Amino acid sequence: MGKLKLAIQKKGRLSEKSIELINECDISFPSGNGRLTSKAYDFPIEILFLRDDDIPGYIEDGVADIGIVGENVLVESAKKVDVITQLGFSRCRLSIAIPRGETYRSVKDLDGKSIATSYPRLLSKYLEENHIQAQIHEISGSVEIAPNIGLADAICDIVSTGSTLLSNGLKEVEEIFNSQAVLISYPHLSNEKREILDKLMFRLTSVRKAKKTKYILLNAPNESLDKIISLLPGINSPTVQSLAKEGWSSVHSVINEHDFWEKIEQIKAAGAEGILIMPIEKLIY
Ligand code: PRP
Ligand code: ZN
Repeated sequence: MGKLKLAIQKKGRLSEKSIELINECDISFPSGNGRLTSKAYDFPIEILFLRDDDIPGYIEDGVADIGIVGENVLVESAKKVDVITQLGFSRCRLSIAIPRGETYRSVKDLDGKSIATSYPRLLSKYLEENHIQAQIHEISGSVEIAPNIGLADAICDIVSTGSTLLSNGLKEVEEIFNSQAVLISYPHLSNEKREILDKLMFRLTSVRKAKKTKYILLNAPNESLDKIISLLPGINSPTVQSLAKEGWSSVHSVINEHDFWEKIEQIKAAGAEGILIMPIEKLIY
């Protein structure tokens, strides 16, 4: 049987989370320093460890079938690939920054300036939209030192924690693009590969649903059951069992992360006791 080739970043901001995501789908593979490829033990995929900037190109050409890459790198590359889903991790922004001591009023202050960046496409689009004439200096790395060595007046680079800007005496003045990791694919996968991708997506979806949901167990007097059940619809309907204690029941259900604390307060106010919340590893429905 063929294997689905999955490209992930070899070393950098996305690597660890990409591997974590694969492992959470119960797919394990040998890893180790300097490895370029690795075959999973228990699932028909092969992992390719690449520079993130090269991933969109490899996917467009079909050298790799699917890949995990930042939207910043993907959009800048302008490669033709399919985006399967956003993954919600490695969030960052592409921003323009200038030396901290300089005053800045508006984007007009960038007129006539020179800006160093590894993202010329995204930057020129932004400058055009804002009718700014600036000179773009394309450099491939260590963009943050450009103003200090007199190469450019400003930079346009990825900011995540902000510590790189801070340690180089720069301040963020414009945010031009928001990014997170996405799963992308070669648009013309064979049927066999698409089947493997579907299997992978099924696991991925279960893991992601589980992350957003918790298992809840509580005891309640029978007269508050209606109220509590209405607050906890569960996937279908909660399980209710009588307790040994007369007039009391135990309720089992699942609860969503987004309104979790509000719901808990209401459930408690309705008379629930001994509320127990547990993580869910996989959720399939
Ligand atoms: C970006 C950017 C900075 C750093 C900013 O590099 O070039 O070096 O992250 O992060 P911080 O705000 O947390 O300090 P990236 O991880 O994209 O590396 P790459 O361009 O080498 O892939
Ligand atoms: Zn990179």
